Amino acid sequence: MTAPPTTPRPPRAELHLHLEGTLEPELAFSLAERNRVALPFADPAALRAAYDFTDLQSFLDLYHATSQVLRTAEDFADLTVAYLRRAAAGGVRHAEVMVDLQTHVARGVPLEEVVAGVARGLADGEAETGVSGLLIAAFLRHRPAAEADALLDDLLALDAPVAGVGLASTEVGFSAAPFAPAFARAAAHGLRRTAHAAEEGPAWHVTEVLDVLGAERVDHGIRALEDPDVVARLVRDQVPLTVCPVSNVRLRAVPSLAEHPLPRMLAAGLNVSLNSDDPSYFGGYVDEVDDAVTAQFHLTRDQRADLAAASFRGSFLPAERVATHVADVEAWRGASGNTRPGPAAS
Ligand code: HPA
Ligand code: ZN
Repeated sequence: MTAPPTTPRPPRAELHLHLEGTLEPELAFSLAERNRVALPFADPAALRAAYDFTDLQSFLDLYHATSQVLRTAEDFADLTVAYLRRAAAGGVRHAEVMVDLQTHVARGVPLEEVVAGVARGLADGEAETGVSGLLIAAFLRHRPAAEADALLDDLLALDAPVAGVGLASTEVGFSAAPFAPAFARAAAHGLRRTAHAAEEGPAWHVTEVLDVLGAERVDHGIRALEDPDVVARLVRDQVPLTVCPVSNVRLRAVPSLAEHPLPRMLAAGLNVSLNSDDPSYFGGYVDEVDDAVTAQFHLTRDQRADLAAASFRGSFLPAERVATHVADVEAWRGASGNTRPGPAAS
C-alpha cells in the first residue's frame, strides 16, 4: 500500500497505547449499562469533566476505576475495534496494543475472555480498516511480581496470541527489578519486551529496564535527558523511545507542550516515535499529537517522516513488513507540496 500523496500526515505505527486508555466516556456508559455496572458519574460529560489530572497516579486511579465496565470478550472486542477505526482515520497502519490483564483478572474477568476479546477485535478491526495489531501484555508495576509470573504462566498455558510483554503503571516507588524473572522467561519463549521508564522517575530507571529486564524499547524515557551517559547509550544503541508529548503535559510530567523535551531528544539523535498513550483521557489520538507537536515546534516534513519511520522501525513487526511501511513513509516524505488540510482519514 502506498500513501496517497495528498495525506496531511505520514503513515505510522502506534507503539505506546493502552487499550483501556482508549475507552471513550460514551462507550464506557454504554458498556456500564450493558453490564449493569454503576459508574460514579451522572453521564459521559461528567466523566470527561473529571479528566483533570495532577500526576500519573491521579490518572491511574480514574483509569482503573472506569476500566471496571469492561467485563466480557465482546466488550474488549468492541473497544479494540473502536480504537482501530479511530487510529486508521488518523493514518495509523499498525498498532501495538498494551492491555492491563491483571486489572481485569483481579476483578474476576477470566483471562481467556480478555485475550479472546482483544484478539477478535484486532482481527475484525484489521479486516475492516487494514490496520494490523499486536497484543502486548503489560505487567503492572504496582502489583506483586509474583502475579506477573503467574499471568505469564497462564498466557503460555493458553498459547495466547501475545507478541510481547510490557511494564506499566506507577513508576515511582515500585522497582522494576522484581519483574526480571518474568521478562527473562518471556524472552525465552520468544516474546518481545518493552517497559515504561523515566516518565516520572529518574534517568537510571531507563538503564534498569534495559539491563535488568532486557527491554528492547522504552516507553516514555523523557527524563533520560537528565543523564548524559544514559542519553549516550540510547543514541549509540538507537533504542526506540515511545514518546507521548500530550500525555506528558496532561499528567504534568512536563509543565507545557512548549517545554516538552521532544526537540532536545531529536537534536540529541535519540530514536523517538510519537504516540498517544491513553488518547481518550488525554484528548489526543496520535494524529492529533503529531498535529500539536508539528505546530508547537514547527517540525519539518522531514522530521515528521523521520518520526513516522522510527515508529515502524521500533515495532515488533518482521523486517520485511517494516521495510514496506518505511517505503510508504518515504513516499510521503517525497510527496512535497501536498500538505493541503483535509479530513483525518484522507
Ligand atoms: N504510565 C504508566 N502506566 C500507564 C500509563 C502511563 O503513562 N498509561 C496507562 N498506564
Ligand atoms: Zn503508557
